[in-house]
Order: sequence, then C-alpha cells, then structure tokens
Amino acid sequence: MSKQIQVSGLDAYYGSHKAIEDVSMTIEPRSITAFIGPSGCGKSTFLRTLNRMHEVIPGARVEGKVLLDGEDLYAPTVEPVSVRRSIGMVFQRPNPFPTMSIYENVAAGLRLNRGRIARSELDGIVETSLKGANLWNEVKDRLSKPGAGLSGGQQQRLCIARAIAVQPEVLLMDEPCSALDPISTLAIEDLMAKLKDQYTIVIVTHNMQQAARVSDRTAFFNLAAQGQPGKVIEMDETSRMFTNPTQKATEDYITGRFG
Ligand SMILES: Nc1ncnc2c1ncn2[C@@H]1O[C@H](COP(=O)(O)OP(=O)(O)O)[C@@H](O)[C@H]1O
Ligand SMILES: [Mg+2]
Repeated sequence: MSKQIQVSGLDAYYGSHKAIEDVSMTIEPRSITAFIGPSGCGKSTFLRTLNRMHEVIPGARVEGKVLLDGEDLYAPTVEPVSVRRSIGMVFQRPNPFPTMSIYENVAAGLRLNRGRIARSELDGIVETSLKGANLWNEVKDRLSKPGAGLSGGQQQRLCIARAIAVQPEVLLMDEPCSALDPISTLAIEDLMAKLKDQYTIVIVTHNMQQAARVSDRTAFFNLAAQGQPGKVIEMDETSRMFTNPTQKATEDYITGRFG
C-alpha cells in the first residue's frame, strides 16, 4: 500500500504571496519523514500540497510537480477527492466528529467513499482500524459512546483510526502531538513506528527530540526573512542531520539557537 512521493520544483501561493519556493524532495515508502523548521516557514503549506488540500483555500495555488509512485497528482484528469482518499491527513488538534460515536467516527470516511456497506464488513474494518491505531482495547466496550468523550490522546488515535480505515497509501500528520501530554505523545510515536511498516508517513513537528526519535529522514525548512518564501535548506537521514548537518542554519536550528 505504501507509495513513494516525488516532488520537484514546487511553489505554493496564497494569492500573490509565495509561501514556499522550489521544493524538491523524494519521500520514501515504509518510512517516516519529518519536516522541521521555525514557525511560518511553510511546513503545513507544503504538507497540504501533497494531498491537494492547499487549493481548497480561496486564491491558493501550486506550481511544480508531485508524483505518487510516478503518477502526477496535479494532472488535469486526477480528482482531488481521490487524492485525499489515498493520502490521508491527521491534524494538530484532534478533530473527531463531535456528535458521532466512536464507531461512526471510524466508519465516516468509508461511508462517504463507498456508500452502503454491509454491517458485518463495516464492523470488521472498524475493529481492524482501531486495533491498527492502538485504541481497540480502550474503546471496544463503548463503541457507541461519543468520540468527543475520549481523552485528547485517545481522540488523536481515533483520528488516526479514521484516517487508516479508508486504506490510504500515505499518512500526513501536521504536529499530531502538539496538543497532547507526554504519555499520549509517546503512544502516538509508538503507533507511528508501527504504522510505517505499511504506510508512507510524513510528520511536521516542532519537537526536535520527536523528530530524532521517530523519523528516518528529516527535511529542514527555513525562510530568509519574514515575508520571504520558505525553502528546504537541507534534507538527509535523520541520524546524520542531527549529528552532522552540512548547513549552519540547520545546526543553529537543531541546537535551539533560533525558532
Ligand atoms: N490560509 C492562509 N492564507 C494566507 N496565508 C497563509 C495561510 N496559511 C498560511 N499562510 C502563510 O503561509 C506562510 C507559511 O505558513 P505555514 O505553512 O502555516 O507555516 P508553518 O506550518 O511552517 O508554521 C506564512 O507566511 C503564513 O502566514
Ligand atoms: Mg504549521
């Protein structure tokens, strides 16, 4: 299921404001790629260009190429909705559908994509997805209770279960732990390590220890000055990036000198 993403010469705009410029990178399947860099340098914007969520903002547009296993995601024949189905997203604040039960939260995307599904099949997918998100044991006796009643960390795992229920190829996570306590954060990190056997995972994080702990490769984004577009300064294997960066700005950032 896991696929490779190849980006070349990507610019992203909000109206006339260029938020990121000339980003090229390869994101490998069955691995975790981390995006780090100071606030405002375009990490979230870039992440959203990977599943065509950027263009839903009025005036927002993209130039350049994004290939998923060689297929151009911005080709005129490609439906943005199908891209978002194969490239799922998890956000900073857990956002379960507040009025839906735990069960219905996981089933929601499937119902949307596939219409009517036999209850027995749906039960199976909900269970597998909750197990995949390391949440099943905590919720199996209260599937009909509201998703909003779970703790923050459980809600985030519920959102991950919802994302994997539709069997995506890629999971994009934008600071998925920034609203969570340290224990829940470790639970999500364990989960990511488990999911990377099956998915291509991209995570934006402000937490250097987290990037170092969970990711295989890291890309450092930065901008020359406020109002300038963000760029990728350096991308490498995480172990090398954190011990032996080639760029001074990378070193300054990872050692906490700015950002
Ligand atoms: N919805 C939006 N409309 C207009 N500008 C935006 C929007 N979202 C982000 N930006 C701008 O794009 C730039 C990059 O922001 P963002 O991608 O959120 O950075 P990061 O995730 O690295 O903090 C910033 O200058 C920000 O103000
Ligand atoms: Mg962001």
